Amino acid sequence: MTRRRVAVLISGRGSNMQALIEAARAEDFPAEIALVLSNRPDAAGLERAAAAGLRTETLDHKRFADRGAFERMLDERLRAHEVELVCLAGFMRLLTAGLVDAWRDRMINIHPSLLPAFPGLDTHARALEAGVRFTGCTVHVVRAEMDAGPIIAQAAVPVLPDDDEARLAARVLAAEHRLYPLALRLFATGEARVEGERVVYAPGTRFPAAPALAPLPA
Ligand code: GRF
Repeated sequence: MTRRRVAVLISGRGSNMQALIEAARAEDFPAEIALVLSNRPDAAGLERAAAAGLRTETLDHKRFADRGAFERMLDERLRAHEVELVCLAGFMRLLTAGLVDAWRDRMINIHPSLLPAFPGLDTHARALEAGVRFTGCTVHVVRAEMDAGPIIAQAAVPVLPDDDEARLAARVLAAEHRLYPLALRLFATGEARVEGERVVYAPGTRFPAAPALAPLPA
């Protein structure tokens, strides 16, 4: 099995990155983490990645004249590491169409809501405010519009009556940690692929037992 070379882009604590690192330890996982890159030098995830023996790089966006210059260097670093797929994992920089198009259908993101509900920030506060009974997380293929793009997989979690933002966030985060490796597996093998701005699954694609994960194959 050839393992796809993956870069994980972070800005903070990197718990989703950690979930990907742990998944990639399995011999049959179809991706290896070739690079962890942060736009913030103080991202706690950098230390976690280094402790796992991974290559890390920092590209401080504040040191670049503009977004274009930052993204050109980001693109160069990804190519220098022969990266094939990019996973955004709490990467807090909006990427412009130039970079997104250069990595079209090779860049995925995790977002803490059931998209298309609640794109953007403060998803849990907004879910509580809206009174939804379920929320969750989404792994999707990145497009230039923020938190949009073909959906690879979603996990739903209930919103409970006495939830506050922190409790809900913790429940969703636990689902994120299960969902992201699953979605990366499907995407890296090509079992999940983009067709006509939706993700389709190869016939016979099987999901691991995970009742709260959707969509399930026919
Ligand atoms: C996660 O909730 C992710 O969905 C969102 O940012 C958060 C990052 O957390 N995009 P972590 O850095 O992976 O712990």
